[in-house]
Amino acid sequence: MNAEIPLPGSDSRALPVFPHRDLLGIEGLPRQAITSILDRADTYVAQNRKPDKKTAVLRGRTVINLFFENSTRTRTSFELAGKRLGGDVINMSVSASSVKKGETLIDTALTLSAMHPDVLVVRHPDSGAVSLLAQKVNCAVINAGDGAHEHPTQALLDALTIRRRRGHLEGLIVAICGDILHSRVARSNIHLLNAMGARVRVVAPATLMPVEIERLGVEVHATMAGGLKDADIVMMLRLQTERMSGRYIPSIREYFHFFGLDYEKLRAAKPDALIMHPGPMNRGIEIDSQLADDIHRSMILEQVELGVAIRMACLELLTQRARATI
Ligand code: NCD
Repeated sequence: MNAEIPLPGSDSRALPVFPHRDLLGIEGLPRQAITSILDRADTYVAQNRKPDKKTAVLRGRTVINLFFENSTRTRTSFELAGKRLGGDVINMSVSASSVKKGETLIDTALTLSAMHPDVLVVRHPDSGAVSLLAQKVNCAVINAGDGAHEHPTQALLDALTIRRRRGHLEGLIVAICGDILHSRVARSNIHLLNAMGARVRVVAPATLMPVEIERLGVEVHATMAGGLKDADIVMMLRLQTERMSGRYIPSIREYFHFFGLDYEKLRAAKPDALIMHPGPMNRGIEIDSQLADDIHRSMILEQVELGVAIRMACLELLTQRARATI
């Protein structure tokens, strides 16, 4: 399991082999696998800042983006990632309303699989749908977000963003705030940050906090003052109204008052605490608009930039594994 592929523009370093065919979630991934992806993505950050961003790492390979749910960043960055690696990328958009669950999902997967793609990148509104699909196809599958379950590449890009700013993840206090209940970003981040030795706190009103979340190894807080105290990183989440049936908060105004991040609440965190948000951001609901744009505090656009590099690393590692096992 030690096949080596040269770095773009260099043949001096080995590419580690990822231990799985698919990337379905962060849960259960060993620290070393996470570190390998982050290290590899670091090399792509530099490449993405050059005028010529293209390599031939995925030449002859086909990536299909299959999105059963809306997306701006994730889909675009997978597309850019595949193209910058020299692969062929097809985008398939399926509106959730036109898709019948179960059979239709599997039929779609089998149809696409028959065309011999190398990687399927799948987003689906139902938790578990992507791993079900992965069982039916014979190519690598990347989970681009399944319901409220996992969004592994988001957690990886968040980790890369933090690591590049702070140099490490171990020992950092990371407060994840907002709609934890419906957030796949929160779940993937909790698994990843725990695996890397960070201290994770979750902050939300009781209605948006999953029961027994502490079993995932997090500190639970019901106030921003408590949750943000001495935090190194403050990660804000959107209210995922599309996953809500009924009302979880009394009003947007009250939500912003108690849980929206503004300069005043941020004072509880470390003086140099950094702010993150996976996007799309709802200004004035979970985050103050001026703070979101504050280049001294906000890493939001950096997260987007690094997302392309992370997806390049994931596509490369998964296709390299396929090469190694052929
Ligand atoms: C997140 C998602 O889709 O889970 N967004 C993203 O991928 N950048 C978070 C969200 O939709 O709020």
